[in-house]
Amino acid sequence: MSTTADYSEKIPNNVNLHEDRRLQRALESWQPNFLHWWQTMGPTLPTQDVYLRTAINVGRDGWAQFGHVAMPEYRWGIFLAERDPGRKVGFGEHRGEPVWGKVPGEYRAELQRLIVIQGDTEPASVEQQRNLGATAPSLYDLRNLFQVNVEEGRHLWAMVYLLHAYFGREGREEAEELLHRNSGSLDSPRILGAFNEETPDWLSFYMFTYFTDRDGKYQLGTLKESAFDPLSRTCEFMLKEEAHHMMVGTTGVDRVVQRTVEVMRERDTDDVAGLGAIPLPVIQKYLNFHYSVSLDLFGGETSTNVANYYTAGLKGRWLEDRRKDDHKLTSDSIMVDTLSEDARTGEQSIGQTEVSALVGLNTDLRREYIADCQGGVKRWNRILEEGGVRQRLKLPHIAFNRKVGAFAGVEATPDGEILPAGEWQRRQGEWLPTDVDKTYVRSLMRPVHERGKIAAWIAPPRNGINGQPFDYDYVHLA
Ligand SMILES: [Fe+2]
Ligand SMILES: [Fe+2]
Repeated sequence: MSTTADYSEKIPNNVNLHEDRRLQRALESWQPNFLHWWQTMGPTLPTQDVYLRTAINVGRDGWAQFGHVAMPEYRWGIFLAERDPGRKVGFGEHRGEPVWGKVPGEYRAELQRLIVIQGDTEPASVEQQRNLGATAPSLYDLRNLFQVNVEEGRHLWAMVYLLHAYFGREGREEAEELLHRNSGSLDSPRILGAFNEETPDWLSFYMFTYFTDRDGKYQLGTLKESAFDPLSRTCEFMLKEEAHHMMVGTTGVDRVVQRTVEVMRERDTDDVAGLGAIPLPVIQKYLNFHYSVSLDLFGGETSTNVANYYTAGLKGRWLEDRRKDDHKLTSDSIMVDTLSEDARTGEQSIGQTEVSALVGLNTDLRREYIADCQGGVKRWNRILEEGGVRQRLKLPHIAFNRKVGAFAGVEATPDGEILPAGEWQRRQGEWLPTDVDKTYVRSLMRPVHERGKIAAWIAPPRNGINGQPFDYDYVHLA
């Protein structure tokens, strides 16, 4: 297998697509449907070209090239990380056996389901972000938005390749469905809740790429461990691209916080609404929202499905090979969050309970994710500290605003105090963005499409893209 893609082909790929005519034809007949979806559901801002990264190789260096590309001519390719011929299953009951190049009949339905769920998130985020170009704070940000969008489109291709190549007619039907479901649609919404929410403004976009793309990183991390080798290799390469999406989120929030601090200092006030910056309490509310809906993406605290996926070798743990245990977990246990009720008073409280480690795998993954999210809060708080501002941002309690799992049935404050329904109704505006907050943020979203200029509510980035300066002509508008 070659690692470099052949760009003379209709569908650039490093999977020797030309050797399998049937598969090639099937994907070539899906391609116009994808392009139609991109035209109708993708970015709405017309452009001549955008300075984009295109994957060309999966090797260690030089895996991408940069250049100005007309968006509809972007080459969405199929790339799998290089095959490791000696790779063994790393966990579960097949641990130590050679990995699978084909789908075992007994796991077919489960693997297909996992791929469809992952695949569904990729085009969803493009749909959610489609109108953001019209209000981009700079050409640099606009370029990053489009970069994220085209790569999510490529991730859809990655999952569709697997469906077409390994799941026959059912796989092809699922590939069609991935284009028919749409974010926020009443008739056929995307599968997961967070992917049906709106991304109406750039603060939401940065929070989404920080918190929700990061969920994607953890999901891909577990699928990268899969015994089904093509899935593992696909996800390994997707993770490479995903790093940029999270950089956009991390530094995007950095820059919003930075600008807010500057205005607070210049004007010597905490109340920067009306001064063109986003007040810290509003940033905190957006953080609360995006973090809590992203926690839901990890599913319930316990799951027998996920236990079965693990035992079967379909989906591993985050950094499976760094774990110091038997990688089977048949006799291990884990403490998971739970809601308990006092038998006498009926009062509910948040506690922990011990379950088998296999059943608690969602909790394990969510904890890895939470620890990672703390990193962002830490760096944003450093910006506040260095700016001489005493306020701090924080992650809300795990029970806050949850719709999935142990806390779906209760309402809790960001500090984890359980509230009666009436009080939640009355007070949720203290913790989640209100219409007033959203309207204010939206009022700041005026496009700055001039080279080298930036909107007043956000600081410029420290670095440009691929060594280019901030005032580079990242995008030529139509
Ligand atoms: Fe993705
Ligand atoms: Fe992403």
